[in-house]
Amino acid sequence: MTSAPETRGSSTPTAVDGPVSSGASSTSALLSLRAVTKSFGPVQALQHVDLDIPAGQVTALIGDNGAGKSTLIKTIAGIYAPTSGDMYWKGEKVSVHSPRDAEALGIATVYQDLALCDNLDIVENMFLGHETTKRGLLDEIQMELKTKQVLGELSVTTIKSTRQLVGSLSGGQRQSIAVARAVMHESQLVIMDEPTAALGVSQTAQVLELIKRLASRNIAVLVISHNLNDVFAVADRVAVMHLGTLVSSGPVADYNTASAVELITTGERATLSHANPA
Ligand SMILES: Nc1ncnc2c1ncn2[C@@H]1O[C@H](COP(=O)(O)OP(=O)(O)OP(=O)(O)O)[C@@H](O)[C@H]1O
Ligand SMILES: [Mg+2]
Repeated sequence: MTSAPETRGSSTPTAVDGPVSSGASSTSALLSLRAVTKSFGPVQALQHVDLDIPAGQVTALIGDNGAGKSTLIKTIAGIYAPTSGDMYWKGEKVSVHSPRDAEALGIATVYQDLALCDNLDIVENMFLGHETTKRGLLDEIQMELKTKQVLGELSVTTIKSTRQLVGSLSGGQRQSIAVARAVMHESQLVIMDEPTAALGVSQTAQVLELIKRLASRNIAVLVISHNLNDVFAVADRVAVMHLGTLVSSGPVADYNTASAVELITTGERATLSHANPA
């Protein structure tokens, strides 16, 4: 077993400022967003979002269709530039201008289509664009060993051969490969957009287990889900978006199904007294 991914402070692409000075909990967060706003012309998809994402915890991002969840993760992942607001990585202000910048920080995003190549095998997919070479040749043995090691560490046990074509895998196995690939490249924050949406019951359980295992390796996980059963099964923290605003965030113990549904649909919570607004 290797330990949690190393700190890569020196490779931070654009650390431009000192530590976060506002926000009490921000010093312990791996990633903090402050007043992040994103407009698409007249549409304000994100409005002054403040969010702290701690290491070693699963944060579930929930909200209705069009609430701004995908926009938020694409902003973190460097696909969209925020219209205004700041992002802090380990307390340092950073500018993430591209997915490459996000990757250099240690942010990996697993999108719903997964971007896996069906016609390549598992090892080839794991190392696509990051191939290991030895004396100018692909080091197949090393890549295969590393693939087996990472899958073993994540207890992905249902895959028979790492030389199996990805096109022949089940949905849950494909999701596991996409997550394993993200983790292999020393990610410290793994973002997942609806990882269980297309999966059956046992495959969903398999992916939820994998998410928990990432957190137990001190990786921060930010996961979008419409399935509140999944959210309560796996999340340590909950963040609720409503019409572009982060209306509530806090430990999962502060929420139940009724309050979560209420927040998702109305943006407010009347039923519980210990609301913990963002
Ligand atoms: N590229 C874009 N150009 C213009 N408007 C956009 C763009 N992307 C998102 N929006 C708008 O921003 C808002 C938030 O969309 P977003 O995709 O982030 O929602 P979501 O919470 O992920 O919804 P869903 O649960 O349906 O995936 C919506 O009103 C959407 O129409
Ligand atoms: Mg979305």
